[in-house]
Amino acid sequence: MKFFIDTANLAQIKEANDLGVLDGVTTNPSLMAKEGIKSNAAVMKHYVDICNIVKGDISAEVIATNYDGIVAEGEELAKLHEQIIVKVPMIKDGIKAIHYFTSKGIKTNCTLVFSAGQALLAAKAGATYVSPFIGRLDDVSTDGLQLISEIRQIYDNYGFQTQILAASIRHAMHIINCAKLGADVATCPLNAITDLLKHPLTDIGLEKFLADAKKFV
Ligand code: E4P
Repeated sequence: MKFFIDTANLAQIKEANDLGVLDGVTTNPSLMAKEGIKSNAAVMKHYVDICNIVKGDISAEVIATNYDGIVAEGEELAKLHEQIIVKVPMIKDGIKAIHYFTSKGIKTNCTLVFSAGQALLAAKAGATYVSPFIGRLDDVSTDGLQLISEIRQIYDNYGFQTQILAASIRHAMHIINCAKLGADVATCPLNAITDLLKHPLTDIGLEKFLADAKKFV
């Protein structure tokens, strides 16, 4: 299972990368805006900065919603760095653009996926990744993990190579359950990753080992 971090915050990206378990980064316009980035040129520079920190797939999202615009923006993003994955929304022109990018060897991440049917279309178009947003489904009283399970079954039935990138992850249990269900990737906030470290018995056990180690001269 690959771990991506879902942020545009460079300090958090560095911290996760230093753990040695990071395989990539996902961003979106909201995450970029949260970092106070105010121009398209600055967004582009930020993508390159992220690529220079993490040796893995870095999702960069298009803003256009029409086919020509998505293709133009995606090609520009892909030229920024070999690690860039063009993130395209799950809309009709997005699917057409993913099909085009696939034919040109440009990797894609189909984002804003909330149903198995959408995930099936993304795979048919050749998306490298599909991003089901499990936390946002949970937020509206719909089981996000059930969607991961359905997509896994459909992709396995037909051998689709599109990787399931579980997104909108809120906490460590989401990561564990996605791993159990066979998601290929989880993109997580930093705290969800570091919360995987925690267990009170580890803390108690370490305290005792260190106390006993003091008995040695
Ligand atoms: C995925 O790529 C998105 O950036 C992200 O996971 C959305 O998560 P949110 O629901 O916490 O905004």
